[in-house]
Amino acid sequence: MDYKQYVANVPDFPEPGVLFRDISPLMANGPVYSAATDEIADYAQKLGTEMIVGPEARGFIVGCPVAYKLGVGFSPARKKGKLPRETVSVTYDLEYGQASLYMQKDAVQPGQKVLVVDDLMATGGTLAATIKLVEELGGIVVGTAFLIELTDLHGRDKIKGYDMFTLMQY
Ligand code: PRP
Ligand code: HPA
Repeated sequence: MDYKQYVANVPDFPEPGVLFRDISPLMANGPVYSAATDEIADYAQKLGTEMIVGPEARGFIVGCPVAYKLGVGFSPARKKGKLPRETVSVTYDLEYGQASLYMQKDAVQPGQKVLVVDDLMATGGTLAATIKLVEELGGIVVGTAFLIELTDLHGRDKIKGYDMFTLMQY
């Protein structure tokens, strides 16, 4: 499937000089969204995935249907102030400034095989932070999956040693 025809390329969003890859058309097309979900689910199945973890917010859009297809759970990694019970957190660098991600302490069980899923990897900062949270909870990150990898930003270099599955590369 040529998924790229369902990605809108938006110049100068959210700031001048950035070419934003917008997955909304892909998600709005039922058969294409299903096909992308199925491909990630096949990858997840082969790894023996027992839990999907996805970072807020677009990681939910890609990760939840994969969890449903596999019949496994989904746990979110969320931004500040969203989770009501005890959490673990990690602070990481963005292109400008810093961000934090949180997971609840019982979101992943020790020894559980986790696939980390998101819509897109750019610098890899969000992925590295999510992996750190899962591992702090005792989970085993068996793989990572994205619709899109922006290869120029060399995100893979931040997460050496983890398997990665991507449907599109730019
Ligand atoms: C985007 C995207 C990834 C992350 C990738 O999320 O969905 O999670 O950035 O960038 P990185 O590899 O440089 O960390 P964003 O923070 O814009 O949040 P959203 O999903 O809530 O829109
Ligand atoms: N598209 C969508 N999300 C992103 C991008 C992009 O090009 N870069 C960083 N997050």
